[in-house]
Amino acid sequence: MTASQASPARDRLRIAIQKSGRLAEPARSLLAACGLSWRQSRDKLFCYGESLPVDLLLVRDDDIPGLIADGVCDLGIVGRNELDEQAAERRRNGMPDAYQSLRGLGFGQCRLMLAVPEEWEWRGVEQLAGLRIATSYPAILADWLERQGVDAQVVELSGSVEIAPRLGTADLICDLVSSGATLAANQLKPVETLLESEAVLAGAVREPNDMRAGLLAMLLKRVDGVLHQRDSKLLMFRAAGEQQVDALRRLLPDADPIERLPDDGSGALRLQTMCHGAVTWQRLEELERAGAQGLTVLTVERSLA
Ligand code: PRP
Ligand code: ZN
Repeated sequence: MTASQASPARDRLRIAIQKSGRLAEPARSLLAACGLSWRQSRDKLFCYGESLPVDLLLVRDDDIPGLIADGVCDLGIVGRNELDEQAAERRRNGMPDAYQSLRGLGFGQCRLMLAVPEEWEWRGVEQLAGLRIATSYPAILADWLERQGVDAQVVELSGSVEIAPRLGTADLICDLVSSGATLAANQLKPVETLLESEAVLAGAVREPNDMRAGLLAMLLKRVDGVLHQRDSKLLMFRAAGEQQVDALRRLLPDADPIERLPDDGSGALRLQTMCHGAVTWQRLEELERAGAQGLTVLTVERSLA
């Protein structure tokens, strides 16, 4: 009997997040922005939820999919790369799907890529036939190789994958690339992308049917609110006339319809809109060139829109 079959009805939700590493801090701050707070200090492995019956378990990211599969945790914040790898491994072993990605969270972006020694001339995947590829993602890599119809050897390593070609234990690697600094430092160059990854909120395939169901629905709604609000900016500006408004509208495809504020007697139109993409300096300068004056960008603190 698995833990999920045995787990009794529970009235608290348990979320697994990375204890330390690149997803740890953004995961905590996302949950804090959802109104969660905890009693324990940061170095503890278990944080008791104070504001809501939602507890945190601080673990290694590799353990998160398994904790969800076993019903120990209801949710987890983990890289799609880790979730997909363990899902692929389960499938390869004939096990049923146990978890799913509920939301992409917009942080922890990276790619799972093939990288070869810099001096290689890359001519395409056919070139991989008979070669050894070092990786910590053997199941994703094996699936991908099968789909490509290429017969290469997967060399599974748990860490320091990037030095395998120099050590002679593999010809090339398949590893996560974020800034690209690790590859560059090891005289490797990326050649193929197997997976685009980011942090995701993962949950069990089977939803809870006790008190946790309501908590889960509420938390998901708050996560959506936070994600939506994070990239929402209120843009306020003035324009001389209708012609400028049309031009500005074309430069704001990711914004809500432009709203008119009451006339202040200055002769200019007073306008505002909620923008749902990045509002960079470059964008502001473009808007200014198109006729916007007095551009002001305001962040959104909270919204139930
Ligand atoms: C990944 C990957 C590389 C590094 C690449 O490891 O294994 O070592 O990040 O990042 P870069 O392109 O910015 O140099 P990570 O730190 O995510 O740890 P883990 O895979 O062992 O969890
Ligand atoms: Zn890891």
